[in-house]
Amino acid sequence: MEIALNSAVRSQTRAQFDLIAPLYPTLERLVFGVHLDDARRAFIDDVLKADRALLVGEGNGRFLKSVLTRKLVGCLKVVEKSKAMIRLTKSRIGGTGKVPLELIEADFLRCRLGREFDCVVTHFFLDLFNPPTQLAIIKKIGEITTEKGTWINVDFTPPRTMAGRALMWLQYTFFRIVSRVEARRCFDESAMATQNGWIVVANRRFLDGFVVAKRYKKRRR
Ligand SMILES: C[S@@+](CC[C@H](N)C(=O)[O-])C[C@H]1O[C@@H](n2cnc3c(N)ncnc32)[C@H](O)[C@@H]1O
Repeated sequence: MEIALNSAVRSQTRAQFDLIAPLYPTLERLVFGVHLDDARRAFIDDVLKADRALLVGEGNGRFLKSVLTRKLVGCLKVVEKSKAMIRLTKSRIGGTGKVPLELIEADFLRCRLGREFDCVVTHFFLDLFNPPTQLAIIKKIGEITTEKGTWINVDFTPPRTMAGRALMWLQYTFFRIVSRVEARRCFDESAMATQNGWIVVANRRFLDGFVVAKRYKKRRR
């Protein structure tokens, strides 16, 4: 499926996580237990080894903290749009960490970044968006990642069971109302990623495939 780049999506995305930020980890634990954390950590070694890693839409800093406690080389940047999420991140991480860290409060699609990262991480980020915005994000990740760089993506996947569809519907309805997320359902990014030069080199399934963690590399030209 070819998805066109929509100029509107380049300017700004409308998701708004300030309201939900303090409740987000508790809600997640109630519904999914520890499984989403397991998925986030599936490829943490790539982030630990990276020279310059970028976490996009990192939320309130839980994954960042687990990285900071173990990362001994390189540096980290975080781009997160929500002011409340950034505030919670700062208080969560305190002075943790031995590597340089830059927290950038910005919309990823509007944020100026060079082709500087050997590891980009998107956790439960792309699944907020419809395919045209996903395409804009995938293209931008391609632009800012070095030729041998890695992109780690962890997302919900389109459900296959009735129970999965019901849970997904509830989740999207909730987040559309509270956080104004763009998508009404989740779209698998992998076909678009392949069309844009990425190949999946490893993947791990969680919650019976409801969540998938993928490690992408750029296809050699
Ligand atoms: C569903 S939450 C996931 C947070 C975290 N990655 C996790 O795994 O829990 C999505 C996050 O992306 C952020 N976000 C949404 N749109 C964004 C954008 N255009 N640029 C940067 N961050 C964005 C939200 O503020 C929120 O913190």
